[in-house]
Amino acid sequence: MLGHGRNVGIVGVGSALPEKIITNRDLEKMVDTTTEWIVTRTGIRERHIAGPETATSDLALSAGRQALRRAGVKANEVDLIIIATATPDMAFPSTACIVQAALGAESAAAFDLEAACSGFLYGLAIAEQFISSGIYDTALVIGAETLSKITNWSDRNTCVLFGDGAGACVLRPVSKGKGILSHYLGADGKGGELLQIRGGGSRRPTSVDTLQGGLHYIEMLGSEVYKFAVRIMGEAALEAIQRSHLSQRDIDFLIPHQANHRIIKAVAKRLELPPEQVVVNVDRCGNMSAASIPVALEEAVVGGRVKDGHILVLVAFGAGLTWGATVIRWGT
Ligand code: ACO
Repeated sequence: MLGHGRNVGIVGVGSALPEKIITNRDLEKMVDTTTEWIVTRTGIRERHIAGPETATSDLALSAGRQALRRAGVKANEVDLIIIATATPDMAFPSTACIVQAALGAESAAAFDLEAACSGFLYGLAIAEQFISSGIYDTALVIGAETLSKITNWSDRNTCVLFGDGAGACVLRPVSKGKGILSHYLGADGKGGELLQIRGGGSRRPTSVDTLQGGLHYIEMLGSEVYKFAVRIMGEAALEAIQRSHLSQRDIDFLIPHQANHRIIKAVAKRLELPPEQVVVNVDRCGNMSAASIPVALEEAVVGGRVKDGHILVLVAFGAGLTWGATVIRWGT
């Protein structure tokens, strides 16, 4: 944060998307839906889906390797790996430990973080504290998901929404005035039932009954989540902007969680931003939960839209309920 410890910024980005694409036409053959319904209600046209042989750590590893290469950072220089995911390879070891071993990042502490779609911004905030305080110099924060593995492919209410992917950022100290300017994180556990997976945990361990009841799949009250998302994304973004001592007019790009293009448009309207200042990939990627924001950021940076000195507002909402917003002045 401004005025507290070292300034911390993103010095490298990476992403990984599975090759296989499922289009809305493909979904028309699987459930009672239409391309027109999916496009008008969500803006999604296609999504990348991992094959049976691909786990979350495989995507996280590719994205992490790319981010390290672009940052010019060697794996053994990484002090901390945080993977934000709701779809870990398994309960334990953590996906972060699996990636740590595969990278050869022997000096790195590693853990997973679960804040659903807000997880990447929670991860950025945690890593920033460690570097700002001087405890660590280099962190790798990855948002990675294979939501296709916890999606009920016969439920039209949810299966049209999700995609798989991973995005990664390398964090290091940067010069004064650059990097992360503010965070705002929040949660409201009272809304937990709006978005949940009821089975497979300690409350309802996996059993024949949980499997037959489909309790291992995502369940969602879509219209309630929609209302929450529109309200909280606007509020969170404005709070983070205020904490950075900037104003709405200073924003160059909004990089929102990609759940639904209608939600994104509503948030952009609240922030009075025209479409060209909003980074959108929900049409090509669907909702990739914790991976959405880092993948969108990677596309905007590598595509040359984000330039040195630009002010970025990253904002997310997710299951929990959780939310987060981060303001960054791009550059090192
Ligand atoms: N095709 C055709 N019809 C459908 C489909 C579909 N794929 N899905 C739902 N419908 C039907 C519903 O059954 C309903 O029919 P009914 O009126 O006969 O009951 C009708 O469409 C309207 O449904 P609504 O829920 O009112 O539609 P809405 O405009 O709200 O759009 C949507 C639904 C897209 C789910 C929207 O509410 C939304 O995006 N919500 C937020 C979802 C979200 O962001 N979730 C985060 C998940 S993150 C995570 O889980 C990790």
